[in-house]
Amino acid sequence: MTGAGPDRTSSQGRFITLEGGEGAGKSTQIGRLRDWLERRGHTVVATREPGGAPGAEMIRKLLVEGPAERWDGTTEALLHFAARRDHLRVTVWPALERGDWVLCDRFADSTVAYQGYGHGLDLKVLDRLYAIAVGSFRPDLTLILDLPVDRGLARAATRRGTETRYEGLPSDFHERVRTGFVELAAAAPGRCVVIDASRDVETVAAEVADTVGQRLGA
Ligand SMILES: Nc1ncnc2c1ncn2[C@@H]1O[C@H](COP(=O)(O)OP(=O)(O)OP(=O)(O)O)[C@@H](O)[C@H]1O
Ligand SMILES: [Mg+2]
Repeated sequence: MTGAGPDRTSSQGRFITLEGGEGAGKSTQIGRLRDWLERRGHTVVATREPGGAPGAEMIRKLLVEGPAERWDGTTEALLHFAARRDHLRVTVWPALERGDWVLCDRFADSTVAYQGYGHGLDLKVLDRLYAIAVGSFRPDLTLILDLPVDRGLARAATRRGTETRYEGLPSDFHERVRTGFVELAAAAPGRCVVIDASRDVETVAAEVADTVGQRLGA
């Protein structure tokens, strides 16, 4: 298969993904982790999904704007994986080949949580799409920011813009998403760490940095 991702045995970079529901603090913590890693001398690329490359950002607009019922779960999953492959090829894999540390605001675990647990898509179908679009490439570390749904939605409301499509879905959808993140973390303990995101920004940032230091030797 072409474009299957960098050879991780020769690449010095690290790929860290931050996951969690609406308003969990992903964007805030990416900024804090970026500063922490840069102080330690690493070159950091902070990016996000869906998006993170010009073509993928165009797909992002289709996913995060407009009415909640605009797409069904399968169409959403296909759009996410199309954007994901573009983002990996154009942004993430070249950065890892250069030896950069890549911090990604959401990645494939969000597709499992939102389209799988949230919309009820077959998790095996999502695994197959992952294999087609991404291959065997995986994050080195995934930090899952966990907090009660109502608190996350209240936080997200403070940054409300045009990207409100998922926030419009009912709270039981968001509860399933939260359960999904916790379950997928339990199934992949070598890659995933759940962080209690209900605490203040400084406390969460300190635990994020500790975890990255311990797991990846930053
Ligand atoms: N630990 C925290 N305690 C209180 N408020 C926080 C905390 N972390 C982030 N916030 C605030 O909550 C709001 C949402 O945070 P942020 O944008 O980082 O979350 P997010 O997970 O990226 O959200 P989204 O899913 O909407 O992108 C922001 O206004 C941010 O300042
Ligand atoms: Mg965000």
